Amino acid sequence: MFVPPLDLQGLSEAEFLHDYWQKRPCLIRGGLKGLDPELEPGELAGLACEEGVPARILVETGDEAGWALRHGPFTEEDFAALPERDWTLLVTDMEKLLPRLRALIEPFRFVPDWRIDDLMISYAAPGGSVGPHTDEYDVFLIQLAGRREWRISDRSYGPEDLRPNPELQILARFEESERWLLEPGDILYLPPGVAHWGIAVGEGCMTASVGFRAPAWGELAGSLMEHLLMRPQMQARYGDPDLTPRDHPALLLPREIRGMRQRLEQLLSFDDREFAQWLGRELSTPTRPEAVTPVEMDAPALLDRFREGEVPVCNPWARLLLVPDETAPMVFANGERIDCAPDCWPLAERIAARAPLAADELLGILEQQPEGLALLLALFRAGVLEWQDADSHS
Ligand code: SIN
Ligand code: CO
Repeated sequence: MFVPPLDLQGLSEAEFLHDYWQKRPCLIRGGLKGLDPELEPGELAGLACEEGVPARILVETGDEAGWALRHGPFTEEDFAALPERDWTLLVTDMEKLLPRLRALIEPFRFVPDWRIDDLMISYAAPGGSVGPHTDEYDVFLIQLAGRREWRISDRSYGPEDLRPNPELQILARFEESERWLLEPGDILYLPPGVAHWGIAVGEGCMTASVGFRAPAWGELAGSLMEHLLMRPQMQARYGDPDLTPRDHPALLLPREIRGMRQRLEQLLSFDDREFAQWLGRELSTPTRPEAVTPVEMDAPALLDRFREGEVPVCNPWARLLLVPDETAPMVFANGERIDCAPDCWPLAERIAARAPLAADELLGILEQQPEGLALLLALFRAGVLEWQDADSHS
């Protein structure tokens, strides 16, 4: 797999973020020129036949719904029965299913890890598309192989513009404002809400989408509330030892309303550190928690394995976030907070870079920084680190 450095066509990452990110589409011609994903359509189709792999096929039908959606796992017969043209296979979470494909996300890590969702890869027969639609998330669409014509629209669309089948979210009308033909290595960035329609031109069209996460405020608030409700004081009940008679039994007095509100505000309040701790756990929770397995080990066993040259790798489903703080930095691993002495921060950064590790390098770091051992053991326990020969993660 060869992924060249990202070429933003003269723009720095800071300029790209300032001028385009979340603002307007950007065609990045040759952004990853020369890229070779070393992924054959057959390998993608094979994955789509496996249990637990999030795969979909969209076939253009020509009827009122326009497209028909099927969910995997598929069989060889399903693929053999597909028409010559006008269908697309899409598989999400590809960088976790085939960890070598993480290299396709790497160039986009100038956007922080916590904002990155997954890598989706599509294979389309000639004419294949998923129809005109809008997405709620930013996306970098990378042409991996073959060619795809992208049309975008500068109009905004609402639910009234959708075709009848709401599951598909395909637009019934689409007013094209621009059209580009993408060749391998070309990239199209789209901010959320920009309607787009990519149609495969000719054979062998493969497109990768680096998709982003943007939690809904309601979801975040719901989860924060759940966290706050776990506080022991939430079990206590309303009390009114100062109760006095009132003019009418039906009265709910303004002082009672005020008092109730003040008490609830107090019970629901949190300081900056508690909020950061909740948010770190929330944002580092993996999308598939069952795919991360804790590895229990003691310090001598860990050192022995390093001395034997064994190398840990990051579980591809793992999420690792670092919150800097001069006196008490925080490390969040798969939804848990783990201890990190301030001196171990460089080691935490090294692991979170997700670049390949070497046993010698780790032993060298531990010689300088023996406290790093506790961090490494905690990262194994949290299911972030595992031994290279760990079972497949699909
Ligand atoms: C595709 O890869 O065919 C679809 C990607 C998208 O439109 O979001
Ligand atoms: Co889209």
